[in-house]
Amino acid sequence: MNHDIVEKNLGLMFVLIIAVIALGGLAEIVPLFFQKQTTEPIEGLKPLSALQLEGRDIYIREGCNTCHSQMIRPFRSETERYGHYSVAGESVYNHPFLWGSKRTGPDLARVGERYSDEWHRAHLYNPRDVVPESNMPPFPWLFENTLDGKYTATKLTALRKLGVPYSDEDIAKASEQVKGRSEIDALVAYLQQLGTILKNRR
Ligand code: HEC
Repeated sequence: MNHDIVEKNLGLMFVLIIAVIALGGLAEIVPLFFQKQTTEPIEGLKPLSALQLEGRDIYIREGCNTCHSQMIRPFRSETERYGHYSVAGESVYNHPFLWGSKRTGPDLARVGERYSDEWHRAHLYNPRDVVPESNMPPFPWLFENTLDGKYTATKLTALRKLGVPYSDEDIAKASEQVKGRSEIDALVAYLQQLGTILKNRR
């Protein structure tokens, strides 16, 4: 009976449809606001060390992410080349994440431990020294610049506010851990941990 009214009344039906969709949408979205974390970190995931974190900032400053993605898609062509596809739980401590999709160079999501530190240093000093056909730019200034650690503790504190589990001790020691180190040390330390947690588990 009541159904008749709705079916014969287009305007009313329209309003009710909107109401149902809105309720359904809210039921899906509202709980997310009250959830501390929507993605669980994968087992064994650790926040970056102070030096690795400075390396990540250099990676962003030099625009490495404009040529390199950090996102292996779940396709055979990708997993055969790069290793296990990327999972969300690996990225929970990355603010901002560097997944990207532009690949002028290869994906770097699992490049950690694939090459030696010496290889990375030679490659970043002048890519053509180790990969003759490379068109990646050289970054020789990373060998001269040193870190002063002035903002390192502040960076860790900011990340902790976003949910990265740094301890008071990590923050207290951060500046002294990076002070005087070269930028290349920091960048290579960052590259060498990329994707290793999942890689080493397999
Ligand atoms: C203009 C684009 C471009 C930029 C910017 C760039 N790269 Fe590359 N990169 C490439 C290309 C192309 C290759 C493949 C040839 C080679 O190995 O040199 C490559 C290769 C690499 C490799 C080897 C990957 C593998 O699996 O063999 C690493 C590591 C790397 N780049 C790191 C970096 C870092 C770190 C930066 C920033 C400091 C950077 N790249 C900036 C284009 C770029």
